[in-house]
Amino acid sequence: MLSKYFKPAIIKKIAAGAGTPVYIYSKAAFLKQIRSYKKAFRAADPLFCYAMKANSSAGLCALAAAEGFGADVVSGGELYRALRAGFPPGRIIFSGVGKTPEEMAYALKTGILFINAESFEEVLALERVAARLKVRAAFSLRINPDVDPHTHKFISTGKLGGKFGVSFEEAQKIYMCAAESRHLNPVGAHFHIGSQVHSAGPYALAAGRLAAFILKLASRGVNLKYADVGGGWGVKEGAEMADLAPLARAVAGVFQGTGLKLILEPGRSIAAPAGILVTRVLYRKRGGHKNFIVVDAAMNDLVRPALYGAKHPVALIGPAGGPEGVYDIVGPVCESGDFLAEAVRLREPAPGQLIAIYSAGAYGFSMSSQYNSRPRAAEALITGPAAWRLIRRRETYQDLISSEI
Ligand SMILES: Cc1ncc(COP(=O)(O)O)c(C=O)c1O
Repeated sequence: MLSKYFKPAIIKKIAAGAGTPVYIYSKAAFLKQIRSYKKAFRAADPLFCYAMKANSSAGLCALAAAEGFGADVVSGGELYRALRAGFPPGRIIFSGVGKTPEEMAYALKTGILFINAESFEEVLALERVAARLKVRAAFSLRINPDVDPHTHKFISTGKLGGKFGVSFEEAQKIYMCAAESRHLNPVGAHFHIGSQVHSAGPYALAAGRLAAFILKLASRGVNLKYADVGGGWGVKEGAEMADLAPLARAVAGVFQGTGLKLILEPGRSIAAPAGILVTRVLYRKRGGHKNFIVVDAAMNDLVRPALYGAKHPVALIGPAGGPEGVYDIVGPVCESGDFLAEAVRLREPAPGQLIAIYSAGAYGFSMSSQYNSRPRAAEALITGPAAWRLIRRRETYQDLISSEI
């Protein structure tokens, strides 16, 4: 259980020192997932590019960089953060369905490993930027392998008909064309089939298709160096990451002996179990047949329950609470979709009591907003049995208006 990383005493200490709502991360849990990846894939020796979109806070990214991870970024802003957090440019790749010429120029000037392009027009735009800068742009193509990852439709990205990547046929045309260009250097092929993928089967299928395609391309004179199989390994809410051995077997086996450098882009499976959101009970109320607990965190802090129907386990911290009941835990935002948990069985908490929401380390803070003009939460990192530090201060009302003119 994740509670071993988040003991009540330190949660209370952090809530008292940093206020609530507050994201609390465990350095030990974060490093544990990172090292599990390194161990499971030791034989294949891949480049791991931590998907910063899961959680781009510098305090966590610096830990990943120090472990030898690279970064997968999806915007100029994430590239900026990656460099500041200490990821070497040679271990950064830039993904995303619509990079602007400005973002491409930034990436090329920085000297990142390669850009993952997603359409012919994007590759042509990259060529123009590279020509202007008088460089040769290393790029990889995101290919849509048409594999069903069996996950939520908002995070399923590997089926044809979605906006992501190009078909194998289209990819072949793009590579053949790029091979003729003085300003393009095709170095890799990529897929990312989705997020919260809980079985290795879809990866095996997609990796097999990618490997066959790369071989075919080589027979036509285009020799790639990198096979990038994206991220997406699932992690159950409330649990640590599942065993990686099936994933390693499914993916590494396919590319063994091909001479290709394998790349993985894990995000959620590393960050999700390593973070909780801690909120304080404001009020209790009854509405019709339902019992509500109104807390000081809201959908602007953690949108996953509203957006994906994600079910994060919750636990009272501190006093045991009153009689057991069934509650919706809701925030102060003016939306009916503003809930953090629905129909959970809990001992009744008193106003002022802390509640921990587990598995909130990924797509929690990074998807948070200032909706309803709510300053974003603070973030703290547990660094030892009784030690912690703030890695992001709570925003102020001044922060809400600081960019307005
Ligand atoms: C291209 C790409 N790589 C990696 C990831 C990370 O996925 P996850 O956080 O599920 O591991 C994503 C997530 O959307 C992505 O789009």
